Amino acid sequence: MEDKISVMLSEEELDKRIRELGAQISEDYKGESIFLVCILKGAAMFACELAKRITVPVVMDFMATSSYGSGTVSSGDVKIKKDLDLSPEGQNVLIVEDIIDSGNTLNFLSHLFAERNAKSVKMCTMLDKPDRREVDVAVDYTGFTIPDEFVIGFGLDYDQRYRNLPYIGVVEPADKQE
Ligand code: IMP
Ligand code: MG
Repeated sequence: MEDKISVMLSEEELDKRIRELGAQISEDYKGESIFLVCILKGAAMFACELAKRITVPVVMDFMATSSYGSGTVSSGDVKIKKDLDLSPEGQNVLIVEDIIDSGNTLNFLSHLFAERNAKSVKMCTMLDKPDRREVDVAVDYTGFTIPDEFVIGFGLDYDQRYRNLPYIGVVEPADKQE
């Protein structure tokens, strides 16, 4: 048996929404520049597509955190696996995430950048799963609010697979099918 995947958000829907977010962000940061922090690996595809639609000056940097093992449930304990190359001090940091679930990752990161003396810290997430929130986090830009289902594609993985899919889908793993 193979994993079954059903499309939740198509490539066209994602592209349209990313253009809207890019326009809104460009307007909000008029006259400023953005230090865009992409949270690896999940946000890589979204961050690159979003950066292409932003018209104010952008510097991109990358960071990796972990709170999940290989499973599908957050452990709540966030660690930095790869830190930034550049200093965010005095910068308008825009944290770009793939999905906010428990909120632990973005909560951790917002405090981290405040401590590192960023000029401002805003957060942008492609997807929001509000049903599973454990910590309240003020996200500034949200692509789509989705129901509590494990999603893959457009950067998101299930055990490192499916990141390359150009759409967001729901996976029903082969070993869990009836
Ligand atoms: P949080 O710390 O619980 O908010 O989780 C954020 C991270 O969990 C995301 O950056 C993802 O890497 C991962 N994650 C949460 N939900 C999903 C999902 O449905 N599919 C794939 N990864 C997910
Ligand atoms: Mg992630």
